[in-house]
Amino acid sequence: VSALGDALASGFNVFAGHTLVGAAPAAVEATVLGWLRDLVGFPQSASGILLSGGSAAGIVALHTARVVALGRAGHDTALTVYATSDAHSSIAKGLRLLGFADEQRRMVTVDLGRCMQPDALRALIDADLAAGRRPLAVVATAGTTSTGAVDPLPALRDIGDRYRLWLHVDGAYGAAAVLVPDARAAVAGLHLWPTHSLSTRTSGGSNRTRSGVCLYAMAGA
Ligand SMILES: Cc1ncc(COP(=O)(O)O)c(C=O)c1O
Repeated sequence: VSALGDALASGFNVFAGHTLVGAAPAAVEATVLGWLRDLVGFPQSASGILLSGGSAAGIVALHTARVVALGRAGHDTALTVYATSDAHSSIAKGLRLLGFADEQRRMVTVDLGRCMQPDALRALIDADLAAGRRPLAVVATAGTTSTGAVDPLPALRDIGDRYRLWLHVDGAYGAAAVLVPDARAAVAGLHLWPTHSLSTRTSGGSNRTRSGVCLYAMAGA
């Protein structure tokens, strides 16, 4: 299906950058985003965008987290983002593209199953707060590229609530498990965060026909 969609999109070369001049593709995008929103249990008010792949979706998500914290043009070298060593390399690259120095990224310890350790995350945040830093976001992975590990989303949500952090769930590899009744429990918690985003991707068997999605929802919305 994605290969066919790619052929049609390339063949018709539709402009989809704005509703006013691309109403049909915008309607398709809104419909697809609505399907995904309902599948993962995001609120009706959630927004999103279709992108070229999981890397782009992660960048948009982290940009959104920063805009919500600081406004459109804001940056602060005290902002700090937390992820594990098993997070996809596109997260570190995306942060660099957004102007984050490597020192603004923290590596959270993983357990034997290669999942983020909530206690280690809490300790890092406490140390950063004590040092005057500004914790911004936690990047959890629902299905790491190397082992398929799913970070403990409900436990991370509790930490996010307490410290008022943004959670980005990189579900590029694992979020599609919501489509499989027997596997859905493995990614429980994709929608649990008060302010959060989810990125995922589809692939038609080759990277040439992949696409990405970023969904985001705000607290209280
Ligand atoms: C967990 C994870 N995040 C992000 C990506 C990047 O996705 P893309 O190659 O579509 O940019 C991948 C790709 O394999 C991935 O496995």
